[in-house]
Parts: sequence; C-alpha cells; structure tokens
Amino acid sequence: MAAAGSAVGLGNIWKFPYEVGQNGGAAFLLIYILCVVLLGMPVMLSEFLIGRRARANVAGAFRKLSGGNRWVLMGLLGVVCAFFILSFYFVVAGWGIEYIYQAACNNFAGKTTDGLARFFADFSSSSFRPLLWDVVFILLTLYVVVAGVEKGIERYSKILMPFLLLILILLCVRSVTMDNASAGLAFLFKPDFSKITPTVILSALGQAFFSLSLGLGCMITYGSYIRSDNNLMRTVAQVSVLDTIVAVLSGVAIFPAVFALGIDPAQGPQLVFVTLPSVFTQMPGGYIFAILFFVLLSIAALTSTISILEIMVAFVSEEFHCSRKNAAIVTSLVIVISSALCSLSLGADTRLTLFGRTLFDWCDFLVSKILMPVGGFFIAIFVGWFCSKKDVRDELSHGAVVSEWFVNAFLFLMRFVVPIAILLIFLNELGVFDLLS
Ligand code: PFF
Repeated sequence: MAAAGSAVGLGNIWKFPYEVGQNGGAAFLLIYILCVVLLGMPVMLSEFLIGRRARANVAGAFRKLSGGNRWVLMGLLGVVCAFFILSFYFVVAGWGIEYIYQAACNNFAGKTTDGLARFFADFSSSSFRPLLWDVVFILLTLYVVVAGVEKGIERYSKILMPFLLLILILLCVRSVTMDNASAGLAFLFKPDFSKITPTVILSALGQAFFSLSLGLGCMITYGSYIRSDNNLMRTVAQVSVLDTIVAVLSGVAIFPAVFALGIDPAQGPQLVFVTLPSVFTQMPGGYIFAILFFVLLSIAALTSTISILEIMVAFVSEEFHCSRKNAAIVTSLVIVISSALCSLSLGADTRLTLFGRTLFDWCDFLVSKILMPVGGFFIAIFVGWFCSKKDVRDELSHGAVVSEWFVNAFLFLMRFVVPIAILLIFLNELGVFDLLS
C-alpha cells in the first residue's frame, strides 16, 4: 500500500496528461506503456530486491550488497534526485491546496474556460499565495515524517484512494459525454506513429520512471521495510497496474473535455488545473466533487512527498548518525529554500530563468529526462552484474515459486535488455544515431 501510495500522485493526474498533450497523444501513451512493462516493472522489482536483501537506505543498501564503497554514489544520486523532485513537486502540491480553497469558495462557478485559464496564470505567477501553500505542504509532510504517522496516513489512503478512483470515473463519464468528446478519445487512443520522435520516447521513459517512483531508490527504501515472505513480483504487478490505471483514467477524464472545450492540449503544466475545474462546473454536484477531488489529490500527493522525503531522511540519519527528527528538519529547511525559488521562478515579477527555462522546468527536466533514467540504468547494471545470483534467486523466490529459468531470464533482462534500451533512448535523443529510421 505504501509503494502504491508513493507511485500514485501528481505524476499520474497532473504530469501524465500534460506530457501526453505535449508529446502527441496516443503514440506517447503506447510508448509509455511499453516503457512501464519492459523497463519500469523490472527496475521496480530490482529496487525491491536490493532494498529487502540489504534492509538499509539507498547508500547503505548498495554498500552492503556490493561489499565496497563505490556504489554508495548511487545513494547520493538518489538523494540529489529526491531533492530536485521535491523542489518542484511541493509547488504543484501547493497549487492543489489553493484549488481546494477555490473549490470550497465556489469560485469556479460561472467562469468560462478562458476565465479559469486566466485565474491559473494570475495565481501561479503571483508571489505570495503559491509560496504560502508550498510551505504549508512541506510542513505537512515534515509533520507526518517526524511524528511517524506514515502508517496512519497509509491506512487512511487505503480507504480514501478508492474515492479518488470513483471521482475520476465520474469525471470520465462527464468528459466523454461532452460534444466532440470523440476527438479527445481519438487523440488519446488512436496512435499517429508519425508523432514518435526521440524526444517523445525519452519523455515516455522519464514519465514511466517518474510515475512508478523509480531510479532514485524510493522503492529500495520501501523494499527495505517489506516483509520477508512477501511475493515481490505480485507487489510490482499490483503497484504498476494500479498506477497505470490511474494515469489512463486521468487521460480519459481530461482529453475529451480538452477537445470539447477547445483547450490547447499542449499547453503544459496548467492543463489539468484549467480543464478539470471546467468539467466540474458542468457536472451535477460539481461543487462537492471539486472539493473532494482536490482534497484527495492532495492526499495522493502527500503519500508521494512522504516517500520522497523518506529517501533523504533515511540517508541523512543513517549515514550521518543523527536522529530521524533532526534529519527531517534539516532536509525540509533546505527544500523550503529550493522549492521557494522554483515557485518564485514562475512569478511575473520574480521570473528566474536559466538558458530560457525556469528553475521549475529545470528541476522537472533534470529529474525525468536525466537523473531517473540514469538511476534506472545503474540499478539494472547493479542487479545484473554486481549482485550475487543467490541474493537475486532468494529474493525472487520468497513467497513465490520461481524456476531457475525465470531467474536467468530476469538476470538477462537486467544485464542486457534494460541498460541497452535506456542507453539507446539517450543516444537517440542526443542525435548520435536515429533509432526510428
Ligand atoms: N510517483 C510519484 C507520482 O507519480 O506522483 C512521484 C514520485 C514519488 C517520484 C516518489 C519519485 C519518488 F521517489
């Protein structure tokens, strides 16, 4: 449940739709699903396996299993990646809180789609309010991690997540019954193969890793808490399927409405914040559903931010031998600063850009397009080439019956298929050669 809570978050409901919108619709979805199945699921299994075998934080896990210090760098990579994710993720989570407030004040009612777009643009480019909610969300996450109430949150989210799914389904029903909805469904499900470019493939890979929380050791940290009789393969399948269902449902809730309302699907991070309020205004009971939706979205974001902060806290407290509380406070303070800068970088008066990209975009870019795929690459190499076969076999066969053939096939995947595929996708994007022709 904790791993599912980590996986399902803003990545599914906010990031996935806008990536689909910017990267050509169904063609992106197709490649995304291939990346989840062929690369994401094996990497998730590897992360669980490393974590449970070593029973330590990311750096400690690599040190224990490799018997040396070289791989500890992976722990550092994970912490750096977690830092960049939180820097922009908290900003978006903060937007979610603003939208709970706006929904509760019934401020979406009577606004046209243009009005909602203008509202979002004004809000996200102002300085104070986004910053306020950003800090509130950080404090909330810090509180949960320090008070050690993650278990309670997970228990709640187990009850609440079905409601999020239910509201998503209701949104889908409303969206697909709008005029011209079929154009949106075609955009999402009818692939136009000419849209596939190297950038689309790398974006799909990055999105798959982001959505499944892979490549930075989150699932290693959670793997270290998994019971020894748990069947890891079943857990991987459950988390991945649930995560993908939530992403696809978000797509179905959004794109028919996008086309029905004449919204530009490629407009980027604001897509969901403009489209869904429009759908709520056209739905019976929309007032209540809008509040519930943004509350549940914030809880889904919280179970993800907890897991990302946990990577940093586990690392700092175990490697520097300090209490979890101090580790959590120090890391949160650092993130308050970086995420405030990200938030302000979108501001009208405080716009901070570097080579034409805002700090917010830089963090997102670094994480999904570079750090996570690189992390996944090395995790595959580690399991394929540096873990003992006995460790791998033991972990795969706890709570499951696996044949030697399966273990060999898995190792082959991790030795060759996954690292080579990730490398090719990178080289292709860099223009070293052209995979597509
Ligand atoms: N998977 C989360 C989401 O889709 O929102 C984001 C995330 C959580 C990324 C944890 C990385 C991570 F370690």
